Amino acid sequence: MRNVAVIGAQWGDEGKGKIVDMLTDSADVIVRFQGGSNAGHTLVVNGEKFVFSLIPSGALHKNKTCLIGPGVVVDPKGLLQEMANLEKHGYQVDTSLKISGTTHVIMPYHREMDVLFEQKRGAKKLGTTGKGIGPAYESKTGRRGIRVWDLINPDQFKQKLTEILVDVNDYVKAMFNHQGFDANKIYEEYSVYGQKLKKYAVEGPLFLSNEMNNNKKVLFEGAQGTMLDIDHGTYPFVTSSNTTSGGVCTGSGVGPTKITEVIGVSKAYTTRVGEGPFPTELFDETGNKIRSVGAEYGAVTGRPRRCGWLDLVALKYSAMINGLTGIAITKADVLNGIGTIKFATSYTLDGKKIDYVPSNLPEFERCKPNFEEVKGWKTLDGANDAQSIPAEMKEYIKFIESYTGVKVYILSIGPERTQTIVFKDPFK
Ligand code: GDP
Ligand code: IMO
Ligand code: MG
Repeated sequence: MRNVAVIGAQWGDEGKGKIVDMLTDSADVIVRFQGGSNAGHTLVVNGEKFVFSLIPSGALHKNKTCLIGPGVVVDPKGLLQEMANLEKHGYQVDTSLKISGTTHVIMPYHREMDVLFEQKRGAKKLGTTGKGIGPAYESKTGRRGIRVWDLINPDQFKQKLTEILVDVNDYVKAMFNHQGFDANKIYEEYSVYGQKLKKYAVEGPLFLSNEMNNNKKVLFEGAQGTMLDIDHGTYPFVTSSNTTSGGVCTGSGVGPTKITEVIGVSKAYTTRVGEGPFPTELFDETGNKIRSVGAEYGAVTGRPRRCGWLDLVALKYSAMINGLTGIAITKADVLNGIGTIKFATSYTLDGKKIDYVPSNLPEFERCKPNFEEVKGWKTLDGANDAQSIPAEMKEYIKFIESYTGVKVYILSIGPERTQTIVFKDPFK
């Protein structure tokens, strides 16, 4: 049995999509288990670039199954567009895609409420992606959600939507002085999406269980990152799902004993989009250089990403919360020739040195990073295995391993699928 989870170890955009695409070679089933179209996972294959939001990043490989699990919130219109785009490029998802019937649906009122809430927060906005994620998860936990099973069964859909919209409309009228949403109009549009998606709906957990019993290998693809987890991230500056390894189980319907490796993906530095604390953030030339060399602009919203040094205190926290067995370091090439590389190895909080992430937000906001340094490498050009990487890179990896207590399995040195060095394959 070999089933691997790939988790964002920082604030998202670590390069999970690239790592999942690369590991898909060894997998049979690829599962998204949380998040929605707030995710933007970029794959570059033979010079061609794809950005996945909802479809698992294994979709460019032949003869694999891609499952959208129950923990995801799915925007049906966005999903159909994503499918059409792949087909336009010659990739068929018709036979490979499955969606758990219990997956919740992002409705147009969720998207609108996301934007309205952000406007209402004003200066205290969270900087959400505006994709309706928070309101959709609120409907789900409030037991007022619409699931794929509802969407694809017209009568069931109409009845549920009509009932739910009574509450939604009362709410948006009182809260935002909004005119409310028209059930018939939404039904007309969304029942068409439902019929198009009907053939993909399955009993997700049962499907996975059968595959695992047949010795198929499953790869779980996280979205966002540990520090954006609803319970373990920098609340309230987080997303609305469990982005950490616990979310793999609840979000796909498999037990924790089925997961054999948990790989945390971390950039060689740190980025964050949206608001919220970020102790190692750089406001100087080095930060600007990382942003421009690393092309650090959001794949979903195009916003410039905030950039800073690698925060090992946060990475060690991520190792703890996720039970990481391995780390994938990405974008190492971005630090080529940078001279000295810094790591935050502790924080100073109110004059006291600490080596953990305080979960009380105002305390975390007051943390000032303390750095240690290693010598940078000149270039990674020509590096293609453990032996051929520069000595400075080897020291850099050793530093991360000894601080976090977790082995670096994978090193990514460029956006292309092939620009990857594997020290240990989690599927072998
Ligand atoms: P994800 O959301 O975690 O999948 O990450 P994103 O796709 O949002 O952001 C990662 C960006 O870095 C994408 O543009 C990738 O193509 C790119 N990328 C991934 N790995 C590397 C790498 O090793 N080097 C460079 N230069 N770019 C990379
Ligand atoms: P991937 O999967 C980086 C951030 C948003 C905002 C906060 C809440 O590509 O790594 P939301 O729309 O989820 O309610 O926004 O979370 N955020 C991400 N940041 N990568 C992502 O996804 C993100 N998805 C959401 O910027 O700060
Ligand atoms: Mg992304």
